[in-house]
Amino acid sequence: MKPVQITSDVYWIGALHPDLRNFDILMHTKNGTTYNSYLIKDQSVAIIDTVKEKYTEQYLQRISELVNLSEIAYIIVQHNEMDHSGSLAALLEAAPGAKVVCSKPAVKFVNNIINREVEILTVENGQVLDLGRKKIEFITAPFLHWPDTMMSYLQDDKILFSCDFLAMHFCDSHMFDDLITRDMWPDFKYYFQVIMRPFKKHVRNALKKIDDKSFSVVAPSHGPILRQNINKYIKAYEQWSAPLPENNPKKLMIAYASAHGNTEKMAHEIERGAKSAGLAVQTFDMVETDPEDLLDDIESADAIAVGSPTINNDAVQPIWNLLSRLATIDVKGKIAASFGSMGWSGEAVPFLDQRLSALKFKVPVEGIQAVLVPSAEEIQKCYEFGARLAQEIKKA
Ligand code: FEO
Repeated sequence: MKPVQITSDVYWIGALHPDLRNFDILMHTKNGTTYNSYLIKDQSVAIIDTVKEKYTEQYLQRISELVNLSEIAYIIVQHNEMDHSGSLAALLEAAPGAKVVCSKPAVKFVNNIINREVEILTVENGQVLDLGRKKIEFITAPFLHWPDTMMSYLQDDKILFSCDFLAMHFCDSHMFDDLITRDMWPDFKYYFQVIMRPFKKHVRNALKKIDDKSFSVVAPSHGPILRQNINKYIKAYEQWSAPLPENNPKKLMIAYASAHGNTEKMAHEIERGAKSAGLAVQTFDMVETDPEDLLDDIESADAIAVGSPTINNDAVQPIWNLLSRLATIDVKGKIAASFGSMGWSGEAVPFLDQRLSALKFKVPVEGIQAVLVPSAEEIQKCYEFGARLAQEIKKA
């Protein structure tokens, strides 16, 4: 594919990956993706981000159609994830006079990716790089979604190079949103849900930083270049990143898996105990429930209790599956607890407590276990456990 002109002297020079079906092991990408890189042709030539390593050859060729590689003065590295920095080392080899421009947190990533000395210019939020006729203002956007992330605003053309912010995995060689007839909105939303959702506070901070700017084009790192109804995309980010309302009453989610009904009994007693103390409780059997369907509920809950029997010295897969999905939502500081029936060794509950702590939940009460079929006394303890958990949730 040829370079795509965006405005006079600004070009898309990225790569198309239409047959990609999974990104970062995290996301399904039924519409493929693009690795967007941009070139600004001015007295000093600047490139914004590079592409995935396997596209290096065609990438360098595409740049050569616009400028001599030796003319490149700046390579602006907005973010070092390898889908955008995979070609950086090769580009620096081909353009030895180029300086890398990046945020301070990006320096160690750049060094660890190219593994050699290179001239680096670090920039702060609001700093401006003068290319001759055009000026680029940098907008740091830490944790969207890496600590190094920044965006770049080409002031004269009103183009926001937004990195992964406002991006989507969607490949269409027409490249501009107003030329694409397929519905891109589900992919735009899905990208937010998986990549940006754990960082809502940082999304809100970034939105504040761009609030006083107007845009004729938003040029993200993946997917179509946006130039029609840009406000619609920004408004959606405002809405999706807004703080959730406080629950009244406080809400506990219980998610369990049960091989012979014993952990299930515990779940229902914990539910009764928590309800008796005034909590709203929802309980789910994870053998029957897709973890994906629970993410919104867990994100809006004040607490979660997870239950698993110990089988083969471990908690069971449906519960691990659920916990593995929680990295894509913000659970930091929520209360969590674990419970489960055991036979003789009882590893599941301590493993779950450890994992919940590692996910940055607060685990104020040690998990509760029952041996095989819960006795009347163990049932009573589960009820009390639910009530105690409710007190901790109310206190938090
Ligand atoms: Fe598209 Fe975070 O890399």
